[in-house]
Amino acid sequence: MRIPHTIWILGMVAIPLLSTLPVMAASQMPEFTKKAGCAMCHKIDGKLIGPAFAWVADKYKDDKEAGKKIIVDRIANGSSGQWIIYTGGIIMPPYRAQTTEAQRNELADYILELDPVAPPG
Ligand code: HEC
Repeated sequence: MRIPHTIWILGMVAIPLLSTLPVMAASQMPEFTKKAGCAMCHKIDGKLIGPAFAWVADKYKDDKEAGKKIIVDRIANGSSGQWIIYTGGIIMPPYRAQTTEAQRNELADYILELDPVAPPG
């Protein structure tokens, strides 16, 4: 069966449009970070209460494997002392009870795969 030209043309327009969607959504916190409660205190590209996730990606960009262990641990047990100059010393409470180990791994992978941004200053 021959595919009509209009379908080809639609495809050529629609496919590039669809492929830009994830890029457009990139600076929005994904749903699973909202469900886990992270979006209350974190944004991707700037400080909220805690550091920007893109800054965290920058911090661990040279050793993501070690970074992943640290992040998974800090989500479970909380974090303090890491970002004082940006947060004024507010600590992150433990999220062990609110997250499963699988979620903590998923969150750490998500953070480490963000485009790294060096924190200001
Ligand atoms: C009540 C606010 C709050 C919530 C909710 C919160 N955080 Fe944080 N988070 C912080 C603060 C404040 C810091 C900085 C703590 C510090 O200086 O060590 C931080 C630091 C971090 C860090 C950096 C750790 C490092 O090694 O430098 C990561 C990663 C992180 N949070 C991930 C998460 C994830 C994932 C969630 C959701 C499960 C979450 N946070 C929920 C406040 C919060």
